[in-house]
Amino acid sequence: MNTLIFALPGNEALAQALSQQTGFPAGSAEIRHFPDGETYVRLLTDVQQHRVLVLATLFQPDAQMMALYYLCRILRDSGAQEITLIAPYLAYMRQDKQFHPGEAVTSAYFAEWVSQFADRLITIDPHLHRRKSMSEIYRIPCTVLHAEEIIAEWVLKNVELPLLIGPDSESEQWVSAIANRMSIPYIVLEKTRLGDKNVEISVPDVSAYLQHTPVLMDDIISTARTMIQTHLHLQKAGLQPTVCIGVHGLFAGDALQALQDAGVGKIITCNTIPHATNAIDISPLIVKQL
Ligand code: R5P
Repeated sequence: MNTLIFALPGNEALAQALSQQTGFPAGSAEIRHFPDGETYVRLLTDVQQHRVLVLATLFQPDAQMMALYYLCRILRDSGAQEITLIAPYLAYMRQDKQFHPGEAVTSAYFAEWVSQFADRLITIDPHLHRRKSMSEIYRIPCTVLHAEEIIAEWVLKNVELPLLIGPDSESEQWVSAIANRMSIPYIVLEKTRLGDKNVEISVPDVSAYLQHTPVLMDDIISTARTMIQTHLHLQKAGLQPTVCIGVHGLFAGDALQALQDAGVGKIITCNTIPHATNAIDISPLIVKQL
């Protein structure tokens, strides 16, 4: 079966990289908004009997989901045999329980919706916290890729005497995997989230690491408050300027500016979401799965 790659607007660079590395040609679709804000989608490539890969990183998902849904519907109605959604960043993974009565557990509702119009999902380091596996919420086969190996390579090449730091217990999975891969020390801190932009971090005794470069590693940088608070504590403890690495750089609102103003050493992200801080290319990871 021949394969075509479609990209939602904003995903063109990664789509081109995947196309170059796999030899799969790009499919074409016109996607735009009517003046009233409704979404227009027109398929321009024959997809009969094709396997179709749809690349859509789901950063700011509410603005993209209608286009993604309509594209997948018209692909199916036009004869596509299999639709694989490649969402390097997968949205709606964090509201995974009811913290207050009446709250929508959006991770489950979102997964149900996607499972209706895609046949398969490939994603990178989704925020699995209270849920252990994607199959708890997705009804389609999901391939979960991990950026730990390519991040480890980047750290090895670019940071002298690194000390890996995870800001909270959730980050232990990435931090320990990378540290063990590189045989370098790591510590995991304790975080209490008091509000969307308010976190409290407790840092253990780090006096043994004053010569090291702290490399703060998290899956998501959203408001950046987790990184900022951690960095400020590490500075107080006398450590070198922090290298901040996020797999997914969401940088909500003033996050990037605030992180820069806090005086961190470097801000590095993977290109799961296009951003000026992208320094780690995840396309080879995806290509291995295709
Ligand atoms: C939390 O569960 C995640 O792993 C990140 O630590 C969190 O999303 C970072 O958020 P923020 O940048 O808003 O502090």
